[in-house]
Amino acid sequence: MSEGGAALVTGASRGIGQATSLALARAGLAVALGYRSDREGAEDAAAKARVEGAVAIALPFDVRDEASVDAGFAAIEAEIGAVRVLVNNAGYTRDGLAVKYSNEAWDATIETNLRGAFLCIRRALPRMMRARYGRIVNVASVAALRGNPGQAAYSASKAGMVGMTRSLAREVGSRGITVNAVCPGFVDTRMTEGASEELRAKYIEMTPIGRFGTPEEVAAVIAFLAGPEASYVSGAVIAVDGGLSA
Ligand SMILES: NC(=O)c1ccc[n+]([C@@H]2O[C@H](COP(=O)([O-])OP(=O)(O)OC[C@H]3O[C@@H](n4cnc5c(N)ncnc54)[C@H](OP(=O)(O)O)[C@@H]3O)[C@@H](O)[C@H]2O)c1
Repeated sequence: MSEGGAALVTGASRGIGQATSLALARAGLAVALGYRSDREGAEDAAAKARVEGAVAIALPFDVRDEASVDAGFAAIEAEIGAVRVLVNNAGYTRDGLAVKYSNEAWDATIETNLRGAFLCIRRALPRMMRARYGRIVNVASVAALRGNPGQAAYSASKAGMVGMTRSLAREVGSRGITVNAVCPGFVDTRMTEGASEELRAKYIEMTPIGRFGTPEEVAAVIAFLAGPEASYVSGAVIAVDGGLSA
């Protein structure tokens, strides 16, 4: 059991989630790394976190499945302690033009990104409220702030996360719980690896810093928001996008 409780990162098997888990481990937190399908990735990341001296466990955690969310929280509470830091990072995207977009793709996107984050928050809040301490960081996207053709569902899910962040910050601030969102721009992960060279060049041209971001650059901002020093930051929506939304 960790005295300071646990930090849960959903979708921690790779990309931004894996980098965030390592950043939180380096900050001295005990971390729980949730995965949906990539157990090996999450186990590897947990092993790296343990090298940093942290308590770290990898566990199956499908945010679309409420039973999996409940079981995951129960396992973390039994093995590490109550969740004091929650990073809703698990994300899903399936691009497609609206006229041909399927209900199934819409549901998968909204259920993973928006409903999944809400299920985790609702499960985490009672313990955070009792402790009068909590840090919730929602990983939204620059797509919440500006539109992209073919991303109606993804943008809607991420804009929903931003609205949820602001309302919850007002709802639970008096309990010592902060709720913030980060909006990454284009970051080199599996989510963006399918982009053609032409599209990458176009994105880079749109980004004042002139390159894609790294998972570590996003993780550093999340780790700040997840730490005790960010005690007066709540309801903030922070772009980590190389200036793309400026
Ligand atoms: N990369 C970017 O440019 C970018 C930009 C803006 C925002 N974001 C956001 O940043 C977050 C991380 O993205 P990434 O780029 O690191 O993507 P990624 O490499 O594709 O990783 C996505 C992660 O989400 C997990 N996941 C997917 N569905 C899940 C579910 N139902 N339950 C639990 N976990 C699930 C995956 O788990 P498994 O591998 O175990 O299936 C994986 O660990 C996402 O919310 C994404 O929308 C990314």
